[in-house]
Amino acid sequence: MPNENQGLSLDGQGKPLWLSLELTYRCPLKCSWCNNPLDFADYGSQELSTAEWKQVLDDARALGALQLGFTGGEPLLRDDLEELVAHAERIGLYSNLITSGIGLSEERLLALKAAGLKHIQLSVQSSQPGLTDALVGARAHAGKMEAARLIKKHGFPMVLNVPVFKQNIGEVDAMIAWAADLGIEYIEFANIQYYNWALMNRDELMPTLAQVREAEAVVNRWRDKLGNKTTIYFVIPDYYEGRPKACMNGWGAIHLTVAPDGVAMPCQEARVIPGLQFESVRDKSLGWIWHESPLFRKYRGVDWLPEPCSSCSEKDKDFGGCRCQTFLLTGDAGHADPACSRSPHHGVVQQAVAVREQAVRFQKPLIKRSAQAVITDFMDA
Ligand code: FES
Repeated sequence: MPNENQGLSLDGQGKPLWLSLELTYRCPLKCSWCNNPLDFADYGSQELSTAEWKQVLDDARALGALQLGFTGGEPLLRDDLEELVAHAERIGLYSNLITSGIGLSEERLLALKAAGLKHIQLSVQSSQPGLTDALVGARAHAGKMEAARLIKKHGFPMVLNVPVFKQNIGEVDAMIAWAADLGIEYIEFANIQYYNWALMNRDELMPTLAQVREAEAVVNRWRDKLGNKTTIYFVIPDYYEGRPKACMNGWGAIHLTVAPDGVAMPCQEARVIPGLQFESVRDKSLGWIWHESPLFRKYRGVDWLPEPCSSCSEKDKDFGGCRCQTFLLTGDAGHADPACSRSPHHGVVQQAVAVREQAVRFQKPLIKRSAQAVITDFMDA
């Protein structure tokens, strides 16, 4: 096995346990924190066909994949979603739909259930219609609320995913109250990661540490109140942690993303790193890409790590952090992740935090994913 000569101990024993299949970059929303590439529109006409996606599913299953997320963009925009879910079910893959909820009619939900969909992750941003609609750049709030109701009505296990940033961090209390009322068992408050669109809007989106701590305290009060009925995750941004996150559980360890045009990557953001050789499932087998391609081998394991990571006692826990973030913040994906306080590049993260901590008011409008639309009304610090 190619992994052996890289000195690895992969949790998945060399298998891509978790697949992230980005069926399309198309989306009816215009979120300013979207993690799709800035040039997503360039890939619009290159989406894999139904037959090509089925081949990806077969190949991934043969490699040992167990579960997958159909994601995007908005995966509901693919008319063949039910067909792909059914195929995944037939070959023994556990399917999760990661959706904004826009377009999730009751009819479609029932069709997906009949096809074998097992789990849904629904993203919501706020309990207030005006705030949600302004944030996502579309009339979406009512549709999202209805999608949540339908998902519960039809008995799907679900995670309510709330991307957290400055403009909605004050919504944590109201969101939990609403979700608990609806009987949602898992709520994830995910402080956003600053790549692509979110990085462009970072100074406007980043909450202060005090706001993060306050929101965490609200979550803890609800945890006490709700007990085992509801599990609430609250992910602290690594900018404030002083330690890097174990991104993807290590590069090329258990995670495999396939982009709409068939490019297979160790994470959804890898295309931000220049100089890497990206391969498409249209040209190469998924098995070769996973095991042999220079892209997946580049930062796999811990043998390649620079100092101070290579002599760090935590390298087997965090695998050196996030390559994409490191490139975006330092210009070299091979540096030590600047989120780590031991990194010689930690200053760039400290500076971003300091800028945010000092800002009294937001200065700039948020840049929307697709255009230069402006939202300004709820930006007081
Ligand atoms: Fe690419 Fe972290 S997002 S390695």
